[in-house]
Amino acid sequence: MDIKKPTDIRLRTKACNPRISEAICKRIDFHIQAEHEAAYLYKSAYAWCDYNGLFKAAEMFKTHVSEELSHADRLISYALDKDYKPCIEVIRKQTQEFKDFKDVITAAFEHEKYVTSIYKEFADMALKEKDFVTFEFVSWYLKEQVEEEALFQNILDKIEMLDREGTGIFILEEELEF
Ligand code: FEO
Repeated sequence: MDIKKPTDIRLRTKACNPRISEAICKRIDFHIQAEHEAAYLYKSAYAWCDYNGLFKAAEMFKTHVSEELSHADRLISYALDKDYKPCIEVIRKQTQEFKDFKDVITAAFEHEKYVTSIYKEFADMALKEKDFVTFEFVSWYLKEQVEEEALFQNILDKIEMLDREGTGIFILEEELEF
């Protein structure tokens, strides 16, 4: 029987003619990578927390891995809707060594601030191009970032309060009635 080798199978690809600018296409690729990097950061945070017995925090980070991957998928879908086939690049190597839980949360918070800053640049780029649909698309991410930054900021605030005042402050707070 004549079995075709993989090299004999030729897929014809259609001509690339996206309905967004080349700069926006490249920007989308960059953000897909940033979202995948965030997923990997949270994966290492999840592993660290679980290993150290912080199971609730591990679950939180595990949920965040899925969220970041869904953010990347949203970008991929948008690109495809605009007839652009995005480049899914290899994730850059991360050396994520955490020394303690505060370090984990700080890394997450700093990463979210970075992500906010790059989406701001993206939104600015879309506005300058008068690409209002892309601007609207990117605005969703900026709103999402408000929650993400707040989450890690709040945990960090609590850790810092613990450093200053010890665990008693949280027991006291539990007993307060509002
Ligand atoms: Fe998708 Fe947390 O940035």
